[in-house]
Amino acid sequence: MIKKFLPKTLFFRYLLIIITPVIFLQIILTIVFFDSLWLKTNKGLVNSLSDEISTFINLYQNEKGDEEKKKILRLFKEYKPYNIKIKDGNISNKQEYSKFAFYDRLLKEELEKNLNYKFQFNTKIHKDFVKILVEYDDKIIDLLVPKSRIRNASGRIFLLWILVPAILLISISIIFLRNQIRPITNLASAAEKFGKGQYVVETKPSGAMEIRKAINEFEKMKKRILRHISQRTSMLSGISHDLKTPLTRLKLQIEILNKDGKLDKIKDDINEMQKMVSDYLDYSTSQSELSSNKFNLSVMLNEIMHKFSGSKIKLECKKNFFLIGRQHLIKRSILNIIENGLKYGNSVKIKVSDPQDKIVIIIDDDGPGIPEKEKERVLRPFYRLDKSRTASSGSVGLGLSIVQDIVNSHGGQIDLLDNPKGSGLRVNLTFPS
Ligand SMILES: Nc1ncnc2c1ncn2[C@@H]1O[C@H](COP(=O)(O)OP(=O)(O)OP(=O)(O)O)[C@@H](O)[C@H]1O
Ligand SMILES: [Mg+2]
Repeated sequence: MIKKFLPKTLFFRYLLIIITPVIFLQIILTIVFFDSLWLKTNKGLVNSLSDEISTFINLYQNEKGDEEKKKILRLFKEYKPYNIKIKDGNISNKQEYSKFAFYDRLLKEELEKNLNYKFQFNTKIHKDFVKILVEYDDKIIDLLVPKSRIRNASGRIFLLWILVPAILLISISIIFLRNQIRPITNLASAAEKFGKGQYVVETKPSGAMEIRKAINEFEKMKKRILRHISQRTSMLSGISHDLKTPLTRLKLQIEILNKDGKLDKIKDDINEMQKMVSDYLDYSTSQSELSSNKFNLSVMLNEIMHKFSGSKIKLECKKNFFLIGRQHLIKRSILNIIENGLKYGNSVKIKVSDPQDKIVIIIDDDGPGIPEKEKERVLRPFYRLDKSRTASSGSVGLGLSIVQDIVNSHGGQIDLLDNPKGSGLRVNLTFPS
């Protein structure tokens, strides 16, 4: 359940690991600050205000003469930053403070607790002052108290202190995280490319020790695999190459001996062996093409169409499609499938589409198709369906397995299906775009 809401990328996960404790700490600090400091100071300030008002009322009440009363009023105005007015009348019961404003509630509670007179206040009419009315003996004392006198201003400063370092801390960690994550993403994309059989430039080790180690090991593994592939290919091509001479010699000797046509079968076998060897040599030399590049598939298909002009072959490719890979090998795969289609059927239809992040090349023919249970086997090297028929036509059975090899090495996939329009084979080549 929680997994659903967790960020997917490493960068955001790390960021969350850094941000969560910071936010927790800030919340705890804020609670502690407001509860123990801000609230207590504010309460203290309102208490002393209540005391001052009580003192004033007591003094004012006790003085009998008008002159003395005026003197007290003057003294208070002089020494306290309040604006005091005294008038006759009573306070209405209507309260003007807001129940939802935190500060209004605090002021009300504290005044109620400490001031033994009926009162009313308003924090909204003046921006910088609180208007307080206190009733005693049918008189109203009208006070304008500066808000700064009863409200602790350190709340805002505290908020600033808590927010600015948090923003700074998070910004710095984003910069550091980016630098730490970059080598990991580089390594991941290099491994992905290598897995697809694309050419990968050497990844330079950077970042933390463990990441450097992973990059170094990846590079070693890459080199080992490439060396292994090239050793295997060169060994097989060496053997194939060396087989060419004895095969030619055999062919010549049989030509001399085959006067009455009795050795025709051996001649056919030798021809087949020669084709196998030359096909394999062709394949192994093209395999050594290492550099992948982005190319226009549509242009390549049109070139192929041009090559087959005259044959019954149709192309449906509405826009430009681009592929990344070894162009020569991909061309060879498509050619192999088209050749099969024309060999086993009469006409071929090619269609290209790009659903989601893929490129699909569909090649349909109108031949006999391939039975379901044979579809997997024909992809194996040297496997042919009708051996007697195809042997004479110079088929070896390497075509489809070479295609599969090439497509897989590009991170793609080959699917043999039935042509939905009647008999025939449909070959789907899917490449990541
Ligand atoms: N379009 C097709 N229609 C019917 N059968 C096919 C088709 N393509 C291939 N096959 C069958 O699959 C077998 C293997 O095909 P593959 O291309 O690997 O070899 P090949 O065509 O026989 O020889 P090569 O391509 O090496 O000259 C073929 O022998 C053939 O029987
Ligand atoms: Mg073939």
